[in-house]
Amino acid sequence: MILVIDFGGQYNQLIARRVRENNVYCEVHTAGNFDKVRELKPEGIILTGGPQSVYAKDSSLPPAELFDMGVPILGICYGAQAMAKVLGGTVEPARVSEYGKTTVEIIGASRLFDGVEKKSVAWMSHTDRIFSVPENFTVTASTADCPVAAMEDAARKLYAVQFHPEVVHTVEGKKIFSNFVDICGCKRDWKMSSFVADTVARLKAKIGGGKVLCALSGGVDSSVAAVLLSKAVGKNLTCVFVDHGLLRKNEAAEVAEVFSGFDLNFIKVDAGERFLNKLRGVVEPERKRKIIGEEFIRVFEEVSKKIGAVDYLVQGTIYPDVIESGLGKSAVIKSHHNVGGLPDFVDFKEIVEPLRMLFKDEVRQAGRELGLPEHIVNRQPFPGPGLGIRIIGEVTAEKVALVQDADAIYREEIARAGVDKDLAQYFAALTNMRSVGVMGDGRTYDCAVALRAVLTSDFMTAEAAQIPWEVLSRAANRIVNEVKGVNRVLYDCTSKPPATIEFE
Ligand code: XMP
Repeated sequence: MILVIDFGGQYNQLIARRVRENNVYCEVHTAGNFDKVRELKPEGIILTGGPQSVYAKDSSLPPAELFDMGVPILGICYGAQAMAKVLGGTVEPARVSEYGKTTVEIIGASRLFDGVEKKSVAWMSHTDRIFSVPENFTVTASTADCPVAAMEDAARKLYAVQFHPEVVHTVEGKKIFSNFVDICGCKRDWKMSSFVADTVARLKAKIGGGKVLCALSGGVDSSVAAVLLSKAVGKNLTCVFVDHGLLRKNEAAEVAEVFSGFDLNFIKVDAGERFLNKLRGVVEPERKRKIIGEEFIRVFEEVSKKIGAVDYLVQGTIYPDVIESGLGKSAVIKSHHNVGGLPDFVDFKEIVEPLRMLFKDEVRQAGRELGLPEHIVNRQPFPGPGLGIRIIGEVTAEKVALVQDADAIYREEIARAGVDKDLAQYFAALTNMRSVGVMGDGRTYDCAVALRAVLTSDFMTAEAAQIPWEVLSRAANRIVNEVKGVNRVLYDCTSKPPATIEFE
């Protein structure tokens, strides 16, 4: 295992990922707990970048003993400067702050740069720089503005780079991580199946005969978390799946069917009518969100009261959620985001988050290992409030059915054309527009459905996808022919910003 000690840098999530790409297990821990580092017995340690300056009064620096553990260490950016400072080198404000692509030149021979081009482009983002290296260190790379772009004490296997090898813009970055993994002597035998087996064993040892509760949404993260727990504790796990009636067509039945195949207690609550009653007459999207979120809590509360006290509550938090909410606070943020603060009223001792260290595609891989079907594993993101926010204006049972049918047709056509793999998210929404149409010989005055499809990797910004025209026109034709009450189909060409991905 390689341990990443996190000093708060924006690219830290990528470091763990680069290590795992080399089939080596990697965990990220916040800086500050040296006893924990020793306890984890890592084969290598990476000190990340971070926003602080090593000279700031309250900057967090690793203790000198860390470098005496005999474990190879790679310091990146702030991590490099921290290594220099703690071991007796000096760090100063850079003459020129370097941001972006810079040419790095390798000086002399270094195992860390084995097979790396002598001159290559690397990503820089720093305001301080190492001025003088500690005793026994040599400079192994430089840039025009940064004489110490890399340094090392090869005998002690201590390495430091000022640039960011984890970022794709650093052309030789992957090679550098691969070399570091070799320096650490890691066996490169970690696979997703080992993650699954290790996690199940760890959960079994931790939870023993304790009772576990999981709020299952049917999304990828909570499904994978639930199955991991089911493998570890079987019937001591209870999954509660609240069907708020605002799911996609057939989704509730599909989820129930999939989970009936696993060893766990599965409780499905059909609460569609309750939600519709609460939503009657409500048109404002934020109000709808609040109502759906609150009602979700009420339903979950009622069910969990029947279950009684549990020892653990499972959350499908994944690494990007941890980053989004700041390390250590993820549980709270995630529950607010999806199910509105469940931990506040459920009587439990501890939260378990078995996917905390994984990225979305790694979670999907774990899901496959666990035997979840592709339609769950590849599920696109779906908002907690569901179709309630994909219907503009008042939500009624008729409108839900209409948008479900239109959406199912659209998804079917997208999948048939094989373009689903290229899209981050795609769905149908129901506008509150009615307009005149002609069907047969008669006049209609019916609804307009909007189709949306976006490309994005972070969901913070997105662009409208250029779906092939024949796919759009086939979907539009089928929707007006097969879905009663629709006589017009529109395609949303707007990017985010200024629009959002959801159509609410
Ligand atoms: P927007 O519409 O804000 O959506 O551009 C960005 C991404 O977030 C999803 N989304 C939600 N996910 N609960 C969720 O779990 C929500 O309340 C929620 N609202 C939006 C949306 O589907 C898109 O992927």
